[in-house]
Amino acid sequence: MIRLDYQRFGQTDGSPIGEHQEFGAASEKVVNLHSLLIEGKSSLLKDKDVTMTGWKMDSPYVSPSELDAIDSCAAKLVSEIDDFISIGIGGSYLGIQASIDAVRGSLELFNLLSPKERKGTPRIFFLGHNMDPAYTARILEIVNPRKLGAAVISKSGGTVEPAVAFAIVKKVLEENLGKEIAAQRIVAITDKAKGSLKKLADELGYRTFVVPDNVGGRFSVTCPVGLFALAVAGINIKEFIAGARAAEEDIKKQPFDKNISMLRAVLRFIAHKYLGFDIELASTCVYDLRSTTMWMQQLGPESEGKHGEGLFIVPQYFTRDAHADGQLIQEGKRNLIELFLMLEKPAEDIIIPAKGTPVEYLDGKTLHFVNTAFVEGLRDAHHEGGVPTMSYILPKLDAYTMGMLYQYEMNAIALSGLLLGQNPFIQPGVQMYKDIANAKSGKPVC
Ligand code: PA5
Repeated sequence: MIRLDYQRFGQTDGSPIGEHQEFGAASEKVVNLHSLLIEGKSSLLKDKDVTMTGWKMDSPYVSPSELDAIDSCAAKLVSEIDDFISIGIGGSYLGIQASIDAVRGSLELFNLLSPKERKGTPRIFFLGHNMDPAYTARILEIVNPRKLGAAVISKSGGTVEPAVAFAIVKKVLEENLGKEIAAQRIVAITDKAKGSLKKLADELGYRTFVVPDNVGGRFSVTCPVGLFALAVAGINIKEFIAGARAAEEDIKKQPFDKNISMLRAVLRFIAHKYLGFDIELASTCVYDLRSTTMWMQQLGPESEGKHGEGLFIVPQYFTRDAHADGQLIQEGKRNLIELFLMLEKPAEDIIIPAKGTPVEYLDGKTLHFVNTAFVEGLRDAHHEGGVPTMSYILPKLDAYTMGMLYQYEMNAIALSGLLLGQNPFIQPGVQMYKDIANAKSGKPVC
């Protein structure tokens, strides 16, 4: 089970946030807001006319036959390829990388393993989350185009960054394999009917999976958006969904004072709304959780950042960033709160052979021991310095735990946004950059 430790989430005078005069009202309100999420009857839950709570009401309860269909499509593709490119941006990208890094090990290292060490999993790359030509060219140089497969993921089907990357990958596949085989190597994950990607996929006969109408991008890691690439990566998607479901049941069942998502939502809300904190550090000392902090960086600000409010989320990887941002965290402007992702049991550990070295006192201790001591030291120092901190404590990194973590955090952020009076499921501000950039790149005005 995942735990939330919030003993060090204090007010500026050091007293617990639980003693803040607004805490009682906010804790009652969050319980009602959770009922609202379940009932789905508020305009704050809607994107146009769709109630965007499928990530809560449907995804954790996806049927075994749908999971089997995803698994068998992934297994067929994996049997034909050595390299896989997942194409997408934002919610159509970050949860996938976060899950694979956490469960299989960070991809830049995983991809260096031999096929045997990867146990049949292809090397995995991401395109479509930027349009950097050198990055794109390098990935195309690395992959074997004759043993390549791709998933193109876009709910709208019209996002330019993944559309451009897909156009490039499609051409590489078609030139190397011919149109027919290329079509068998491409899976499209998009809307059931709308959008130019769906139209193209139907015309060219790609296998498709549907992004449900009622699931928005940043809440989509537990639907086919995340599930297909996870299955390609050899991750047990049934375990992953079981974890999400267990967390969802826990949130529905627990009273406020034991409810991880409600507590986290109210603590953030009081800190932001009444105590002037406007940045949340998403911190970890676990290399394979760095991209999970990036997933958080997207989930929060796109959900809450409206009407002049919202916590800005900044990933921190420790202890590296302690030697960079650490000074400001400790003594800079006091507008920071911090969430740590702590791990109880790493996949592997190493004993430190320190006899005769400057760290002889660590001889025989494990790396996990000293890593934990240092991150707990950072947590305590930041707390002493006036940064309210809380921690998700993960027992280990596996599919089940990651499914749980996402479900807890998606609930926490949805509730946190609702406490601020925001609709967490829309992102009208993102359109502004798209309009200006589209005009600059010559998109015809319809
Ligand atoms: O959370 C969101 O809604 C966004 O970050 C989207 O996931 C992102 O813009 C990509 O959208 P699409 O899947 O439509 O290409």
